[in-house]
Amino acid sequence: MEGGFEFHTVRGYQLLNQGNRLLTPAMEDYLEMIYRNIQKDGYMRINTLSEFLNVKPSSSTKMVQNLTQLGFVDYKKYGIIFLTEKGALIGKFLLERHNIIERFLTLIGVSEDTLVETELIEHNISINTTKNINALNEFLSQNPDIIKKFEHFKSAFI
Ligand code: CO
Repeated sequence: MEGGFEFHTVRGYQLLNQGNRLLTPAMEDYLEMIYRNIQKDGYMRINTLSEFLNVKPSSSTKMVQNLTQLGFVDYKKYGIIFLTEKGALIGKFLLERHNIIERFLTLIGVSEDTLVETELIEHNISINTTKNINALNEFLSQNPDIIKKFEHFKSAFI
């Protein structure tokens, strides 16, 4: 299950981030998107990356070079990007975190702009909060009666 209860990728991220912010939100967006595409196609193209992230090719080239220097990305030429082992570890965590938040928003009944909101929220919550949300997602999924009750309850407010 996507973003399931077992949240295995956390440790890799903690080890690499060591409590201080090694990765900026923009770096996280890049790594998440590269990982996402590599899962699908086996690689990422710099032009596709720019398109998906809505940035100029020159900006993504610069960022990819930066991520290469940090040892997350393997970028040699022809505009083709791969992830290193630690880049893939982080990418997996970032995608999992993204899915946990998006799933949470969907479970509580948010139906508009869930993707945009997930993108805004994901960079700003701690691993501990993410784990708790993950557990709540799982709890709600396993107890659909509680979701029903909540939907009824909130109809008085929204
Ligand atoms: Co995301």
